Amino acid sequence: MSNAQTQSTPRPSDSSKQIPIHMVDLGGLHARLRPELDQAINDVLQESAFIRGRHVDAFERNLNESLNLAGHVVGCGNGTDALALSLRALEIGPKDEVIVPDFSFISSAEVVVESGATPVFADINSTTFQLDPESAERARSPRTKAVVVVHLFGQCANMDALVPWAQQHQIHIVEDNAQSLGAKWLGDHVQGPAGMMGSIGTTSFFPSKNLGALGDGGAVMTRDENLASRVRRLANHGAERKYHHLEIGFNSRLDGLQAAVLQVKLNHWKDLIERRQTAAARYDELLNDAAFSDVIRPERSECSTHTFHQYCIQLPSGTDRTTLQAALSGAGIPTAVYYPTPLSSQPAFQNAAKTEPLGTPVAHDVASRILALPMHTELNLGMQQRVVEELFRLLPST
Ligand SMILES: Cc1ncc(COP(=O)(O)O)c(C=O)c1O
Repeated sequence: MSNAQTQSTPRPSDSSKQIPIHMVDLGGLHARLRPELDQAINDVLQESAFIRGRHVDAFERNLNESLNLAGHVVGCGNGTDALALSLRALEIGPKDEVIVPDFSFISSAEVVVESGATPVFADINSTTFQLDPESAERARSPRTKAVVVVHLFGQCANMDALVPWAQQHQIHIVEDNAQSLGAKWLGDHVQGPAGMMGSIGTTSFFPSKNLGALGDGGAVMTRDENLASRVRRLANHGAERKYHHLEIGFNSRLDGLQAAVLQVKLNHWKDLIERRQTAAARYDELLNDAAFSDVIRPERSECSTHTFHQYCIQLPSGTDRTTLQAALSGAGIPTAVYYPTPLSSQPAFQNAAKTEPLGTPVAHDVASRILALPMHTELNLGMQQRVVEELFRLLPST
């Protein structure tokens, strides 16, 4: 029994007089940065530098330098395109298999089907939610050409296990780093920034991401100059110069406006990430103090830094999560579920994918119990106390 269940009678909550709590507070963040954002947008308007141009070039260079990526960064239309471009640049297509964790956003596997290859779903670790290297090995076949390693929720997957394994079997690692830009893996065997430890890495600048644009945006990153040039060409209709198309490509370019906005946020990067890390540490403490013995806090991998794109707890088995979320919402506390359905159970993959021989029981269990608490740069202690108090009050009855 949870300690929460031993507490006294629930008191009614009065959320009407309190500052609203948001799941993600882009309004608050943009209000703080407004003068700088206005200036950046104004500059682009004055120059009419809308598609690629100097703002995109500068942002690509600065992202590379400020995150110590020591490679090449190529902006593109969004994080899904970044993955699709990466698979094309690695020549992945029909007859190939690509291992993908079963617990991720659909893009991680969708692009594999789009390329003509077959996704093979592997299971995850039950506490870090990252790809399980043993399950990845069971998913491997002679047709395996790549693995999409998703660095989920803000920290890195187990690269000490995955990098040597992929090298041994000549499998490309594509790092889907949409959620963990800026995280670092500092293992015994492998060290490096997320996105730069495999063949190629990708990220997303979707507005709610840790580095978010005011619309869609994404980037590919790699140490391999040839791969970077290929991606740049593919993203620009297969052309290196105007009206000369060397291959069939995509139209997937980062806008000047988005690059200028992203640069403003990149200038505040350290503060933005520290705010998330501080909020996560406060949740850890509050949940600890509340003695939710049956609520599992998100585990930090020993070898990874954590940028806390999400703070996800696991509810005790048997909790009616839908009822709990509705009750929390009634008390002014938003929550979300990332992800309610493992990819292998999505109708879209029924005839287009395989699953490793032992199945993905951990991904299914985690999907049924996970709950994301509000996490963003504008959270304060008072808000987080309310989140945990309401959870403490409402959990026993669900
Ligand atoms: C893990 C993961 N991969 C890929 C993507 C795709 O990014 P985008 O929405 O920019 O296409 C997202 C973001 O939504 C994501 O969370």
